[in-house]
Amino acid sequence: MERSSAVAVVVVAFLIGLLTSEIAAEIAQNSTEFYRIGRRRSPPQSLCAQLIEPSGYSCSELTIQTKDGYLLGLQRVSSRSGDLRTQQGPPVLLQHGLFMAGDAWFLNSPEESLGFVLADEGFDVWVGSVRGTRWSHGHVSLSEEDKEFWDWSWQELALFDLSEMIRYIYSTRSSKVFVVGHSQGTIMSLAALTQPDIAELVEAAALFCPISYLEHITSKFALRMVNMHVDQMILAMGIHQLNFRSEWGVNLLDSICDGHVDCNDLLTSITGKNCCFNNSRVDLYLDYEPHPTSAKNLHHLFQMIRKGTFSQYDYGLLKNLRLYGQLKPPAFDLSLIPESLPLLMACGGNDDLADMTDFHHTLKELQSTPELLYLENYGHIDFIVSVKSKEDLHDPVIRFFRSWGKSSSS
Ligand SMILES: *[C@@H]1O[C@H](CO)[C@@H](O)[C@H](O)[C@H]1NC(C)=O
Ligand SMILES: *[C@@H]1O[C@H](CO)[C@@H](O)[C@H](O)[C@H]1NC(C)=O
Repeated sequence: MERSSAVAVVVVAFLIGLLTSEIAAEIAQNSTEFYRIGRRRSPPQSLCAQLIEPSGYSCSELTIQTKDGYLLGLQRVSSRSGDLRTQQGPPVLLQHGLFMAGDAWFLNSPEESLGFVLADEGFDVWVGSVRGTRWSHGHVSLSEEDKEFWDWSWQELALFDLSEMIRYIYSTRSSKVFVVGHSQGTIMSLAALTQPDIAELVEAAALFCPISYLEHITSKFALRMVNMHVDQMILAMGIHQLNFRSEWGVNLLDSICDGHVDCNDLLTSITGKNCCFNNSRVDLYLDYEPHPTSAKNLHHLFQMIRKGTFSQYDYGLLKNLRLYGQLKPPAFDLSLIPESLPLLMACGGNDDLADMTDFHHTLKELQSTPELLYLENYGHIDFIVSVKSKEDLHDPVIRFFRSWGKSSSS
């Protein structure tokens, strides 16, 4: 594969916050570290057994099935003193970002990780992981080796995966669900909430690094790659799964620093500066991140950058006509999100990945006025692993949820 293509994949990955900045730091330090990402493979335990129960929390594993046949792992966590069977707190669903999975909410200490903090505060915590990630890799008839297994983008993650999780939790608890999303998890949440039958099951949503429009991404380097149609090149090469732990993915990453591309400058210019990153935990983070996604998903995100739209996947005129009954893919209409649905949006001043012009575009189309939380020194990854997140982020989110939880029927 050409170096330019390889670089493009990673650049875009960073744009959406896919690769975590801890990996970026390692890449910048020592390119041979790439191999660690590829070689590290944790034993395929369950998320409960591997990351949540060792800290003393009750955790149960469930599997739910989407309308298109994917089998998703879903975990339910309650406080160290609590009992899942009697847990009466309001249900909250945590929806991770691109190249991440449900483990993202438990990577720091119990005091610093939103999943643990919410459980300790008495919430009934449900942990989602989208199709293709390590915790949700099954399908009723397809295997991960089949290219059809990877035939989806964030559109399906929103309309099938996230929607099914919300429906399942709502019917289990007979109670509206709080939703927390990060990065791609906010694209999914906003798209899902334009569907009236999903929106009515949600009590309130807290969106970290909210994204819907991607038109104003400013990185010249990334834009050049988008214009070179690198995403189409990857698909044309027959690559359907984007997995940076595979041989292919590791080689791809390694090729970036092998030669005249200066990884140090490149990565610094793309990722925002994360204020509150704990360097001593990099090894643990690398045990979990990055998770795979599909090449089609990357292509859909590139389409959004190119066209400035927040629309369904663009298959080209003829297939659009056949699938959607129109030449252009239908847009997700943000004004369909009910005005009565409380939203909190948390943005970072150092988040180079979620552009403020695009964010204001999102705000303009919403009927409601979301509560805003602006964290000046936060970068994209701080919203997941900041060592100061309890005061900066978690406490405000819990206050926000509590202020809207009264109407809950549980
Ligand atoms: C890069 O990492 C390898 C393995 O950890 C180490 O042997 C090597 O000395 C490092 N190189 C630099 C330039 O730090
Ligand atoms: C950073 O991580 C180390 C290793 O897990 C831990 O001992 C330390 O308490 C963490 N620091 C902060 C500020 O959370």
